[in-house]
Amino acid sequence: MPAASSQVRRDGARAGVSPDSGDAFVVRTVRRGDLDQVIAIDATVTGLEKRKYWASVYRRYGAGGSSEPQFLVAIAKGRVVGFVIGEVRDWEFGSPPCGWVFAINVAPQARLGGVGTRLLEAISASFRRAGVRKLRTMLARDNTLILSFFRSHGMMAGPLISLEMNLDA
Ligand SMILES: CC(C)(COP(=O)(O)OP(=O)(O)OC[C@H]1O[C@@H](n2cnc3c(N)ncnc32)[C@H](O)[C@@H]1OP(=O)(O)O)[C@@H](O)C(=O)NCCC(=O)NCCS
Repeated sequence: MPAASSQVRRDGARAGVSPDSGDAFVVRTVRRGDLDQVIAIDATVTGLEKRKYWASVYRRYGAGGSSEPQFLVAIAKGRVVGFVIGEVRDWEFGSPPCGWVFAINVAPQARLGGVGTRLLEAISASFRRAGVRKLRTMLARDNTLILSFFRSHGMMAGPLISLEMNLDA
């Protein structure tokens, strides 16, 4: 999924949910009632409110979808403060089965409190339970924020590259 804005911490300040309290938020599978808040968080990053898109993502990745649910939300004080979406893909791009993270997003006011970390840990645990030992993602080259986040978790450049071309007449 596209990553629009980049925002890199400069002053070392931490904000949002308490970074040191493991009880400040919980991570669980998404529910239909969470979708409006997920859409609002996504819109803060992309600037677009994509209701139809999110309804289809929910059908595919939410509870009751085709495979083990891989659409997780972080909840603090009853509100959605972040989400992660991914899937195990078998043999695509010539690659043995691996877990892909398609999107991870934390509400601006809840950032730097460990929410993104907990979401990534939770989906990684789910992938491990599914039997895969590799995690992959894609990100926009200029999104230094998400790059810093993934690098802090030990993710490195992988063996695949993305290619594209215009399909205009
Ligand atoms: C990237 C993002 C998910 C991180 O969520 P978060 O809850 O703030 O992350 P955490 O608090 O768990 O931070 C974990 C580590 O990531 C790195 N990190 C997070 N925010 C950072 C920042 N602003 N600057 C530099 N490093 C940062 C740090 O190494 C941090 O560890 P530290 O706090 O011990 O230094 C969140 O900033 C976000 O939603 N960004 C915009 C969404 C986006 O572009 N998503 C990609 C499209 S799918």
